[in-house]
Amino acid sequence: MAYKLGIIGAGKIGEALVQGVLQKGLIAPKDIILSVKSEKHRAELEARTGVRTVKDNREVVAGSENVFLAVKPKMMAEVLSETADLFGPGRLLVSTVAGVNIEFMESRLPAGTPVIRSMPNMAVAIGQGMTALAAGKSVPEDRLDWAASIYRAVGRAVIVGEEHMDAVTGLSGSGPAYIYIVIESLADGGVKMGLPRDVAVELAAQTVLGAASNVLITGEHPAKLKDQVTTPAGVTIDGILELEAGGLRVTLIKAVVKAAERARALMHKA
Ligand SMILES: NC(=O)c1ccc[n+]([C@@H]2O[C@H](COP(=O)([O-])OP(=O)(O)OC[C@H]3O[C@@H](n4cnc5c(N)ncnc54)[C@H](OP(=O)(O)O)[C@@H]3O)[C@@H](O)[C@H]2O)c1
Repeated sequence: MAYKLGIIGAGKIGEALVQGVLQKGLIAPKDIILSVKSEKHRAELEARTGVRTVKDNREVVAGSENVFLAVKPKMMAEVLSETADLFGPGRLLVSTVAGVNIEFMESRLPAGTPVIRSMPNMAVAIGQGMTALAAGKSVPEDRLDWAASIYRAVGRAVIVGEEHMDAVTGLSGSGPAYIYIVIESLADGGVKMGLPRDVAVELAAQTVLGAASNVLITGEHPAKLKDQVTTPAGVTIDGILELEAGGLRVTLIKAVVKAAERARALMHKA
């Protein structure tokens, strides 16, 4: 096949994936093809990435060993019916589409087509994404590893059973929104105590980044890291007392549960 990677739907997620694999040198521009609807967007994208873009989704699928589908959920059924006959055991489909399960895709594709469902988050656009992947019944291990390596070019990736995808959606899919609120609120605290807004936002955002990096780099339990910075009778324990009184812990748990339940309720099933 002419291309290693084909992408249908070169929007925010689709383009972030292309930029990520190109920057990491994972795939050469000549081995990637994208389908883009508008002429203007096509020309801009080609100029930005050096990757071939076409209008026809069938051309992308027919020419590619691996196809990423990154269209909006409402377009999913249409794009699958337009291209289904071109799939089969040799051609991998990786969906980024939220709320469409593997059975929905497998039931519309030829038997034996390897199908992966993935759930990235918006931070893929800055190379700091968090993606979970779940494999359908016909996915060889090496192709699942390959798909994960594409997401590792734009952040981190984990492989989970499909039954966990709603939880992933409620946590890392929606999570950036929760953390923006946490950052904004910390900054408001700083402003309340007299800090300039821009300084307060920088302090808050870098504090969140540093704490998150510490968890990932050390692999320590967050509670242990919290204990390390909480001096007996010190300042931080007074702040923690306020967080507990305000129910931060329970509120965040409930936010993940509620968003995961909503994701489950919206699911497009076969
Ligand atoms: N953004 C996120 O944070 C995020 C996180 C997890 C999962 N997802 C999922 O990823 C998918 C893409 O999201 P996104 O944020 O990248 O959306 P987006 O920016 O709207 O991109 C979708 C792209 O699909 C193109 N498109 C529409 N109809 C098409 C068709 N029939 N054939 C080929 N391309 C078509 C659109 O082109 P036009 O603009 O020209 O119509 C657009 O470029 C969604 O299903 C979403 O659920 C997104």
